[in-house]
Amino acid sequence: MPIALISALRHELHTALACIEGARCQRIAGREFWQGRWHGHEVLAMLCGVGKVAAATTAAVLADRFQARALLLTGVAGGLAAGVRVGDAVVARAFLQHDLDASPLFPRYEVPFYGRAMFETDPRLSAALEAALARVLGRLPQVLGAQAVAEFGLTAARAHGGLIISGDRFIATRAASDALRQALPDALAVEMEGAAIAQVCHDWGLPLAGLRTISDRADDQAHADFDRFVCAVASPYAAAVLDELFRAAPPGSLTNS
Ligand code: ADE
Repeated sequence: MPIALISALRHELHTALACIEGARCQRIAGREFWQGRWHGHEVLAMLCGVGKVAAATTAAVLADRFQARALLLTGVAGGLAAGVRVGDAVVARAFLQHDLDASPLFPRYEVPFYGRAMFETDPRLSAALEAALARVLGRLPQVLGAQAVAEFGLTAARAHGGLIISGDRFIATRAASDALRQALPDALAVEMEGAAIAQVCHDWGLPLAGLRTISDRADDQAHADFDRFVCAVASPYAAAVLDELFRAAPPGSLTNS
């Protein structure tokens, strides 16, 4: 049973595929699923698409059709909390849908009939991911190249662990990110898929871990240099962290099942 690697970004998937031995492709529901080995670990890599519906569909195919034994999400996010800057990375401890509101029938953000708004990630897989991230952060100039580190001001890049919030909206104004900060002060970062994947993992009882590189501050400059950041920073960064994760862990040791 493979560990599924879900990329939010095409360039990021292609960077990861270069590290996967013997990758072979299957097409299901208009998506490409690539199966192979990474440092001896059986892995399955694919794009989740953008937004919660696309992400949930992908996760359901992974759980049901491929019987993935864990899901590992990578991609970019907008930084919300004060110390979460461009070039930092956040390992998710929990996800929440910031645009879900069935009030007054249910409390704001709560997923109806689940009795919860927050979906926690797997502590063991997340701890292994955080450890791999810390080791990569220690050699960021070698991983990304001195030029990318200088261009994006990454000399003081940091790692964070905490709440990531998701919704079907790219947050690109200061007013929108201020509103999220005020409503959800614990949120470190915002993206568009993680909470949907977390809900599917909850349904199937699957361990989930998530790593997001901060591409912007979810403000009026949020779209600037997005593609360049993805190619120069987010893709090699995620591939290096996954490479470190799989290199350091004996196959089969990352999850209980
Ligand atoms: N992914 C990266 N940046 C984002 C933002 N500002 N809003 C939503 N998703 C994002």
